[in-house]
Amino acid sequence: MPELGVNIDHVATVRQARRTNEPDPVWAAALAEMGGADGITLHLREDRRHISDRDLQILRQTVTVKLNLEMACNDEVLAIACGVKPDQATLVPERREEVTTEGGLNVFSQRAKVAEVVRKLQDAGISVSLFLDPDPRQIEEAARLKVAAVELHTGQYAEAKSGLPQQQELEQLQAVGAMVFGLGMTLHAGHGLTYRNVRPVAQIAGMKELNIGHSIVARAIMVGFEEAVREMKRLVV
Ligand code: PXP
Repeated sequence: MPELGVNIDHVATVRQARRTNEPDPVWAAALAEMGGADGITLHLREDRRHISDRDLQILRQTVTVKLNLEMACNDEVLAIACGVKPDQATLVPERREEVTTEGGLNVFSQRAKVAEVVRKLQDAGISVSLFLDPDPRQIEEAARLKVAAVELHTGQYAEAKSGLPQQQELEQLQAVGAMVFGLGMTLHAGHGLTYRNVRPVAQIAGMKELNIGHSIVARAIMVGFEEAVREMKRLVV
């Protein structure tokens, strides 16, 4: 059964809309744990558009499940990560103009930089995951970099029309997932997963961790954070 990592970035997005102190992602993380979250995921972006340094510091002290920090290959954030020591760092691409993370990391275009960041994180005792498109060439390169895990980008699956197009995207995730597994890395997935589309991804052979944010935060507005996490946890089997 995969673990559920709850991404709390969008709790901070609502807070930042008013530059105030509520809702507090720290509080949301506690409720997520009570709803059954196996991990708390947050993205400390270079532009600090949602999660702040304060959030990361407090969450490191309060979260009792796995703390997964999404981050770009950025020296400032790398230094913070090595100091705070999340349990896991997931390397993602980052562009200031994007609404959310667009596409997986391209390991080829910045191989030396990715290798350096991976090594520094590992030296600090942090397990490293790479957020990659379901592209076999990227997966082979990840194995060469000796990372512990690969998080497959499920955005194209999530955006595909239901029926054959979505089925084809799922088959791609299944095939590349088997490759991740076969190369000795742990298989994770995330991005765009919802209460409606999560099950087939949760059932991919070897799937170990799903990171889900927007859909849970959207549902939480209607039913409360703890209940929204509990409902998602029931589907991730
Ligand atoms: N995984 C990664 C690497 C991401 O960048 C994001 C978005 O921050 C997610 C998972 C969660 O995506 P969503 O908010 O669409 O569930």
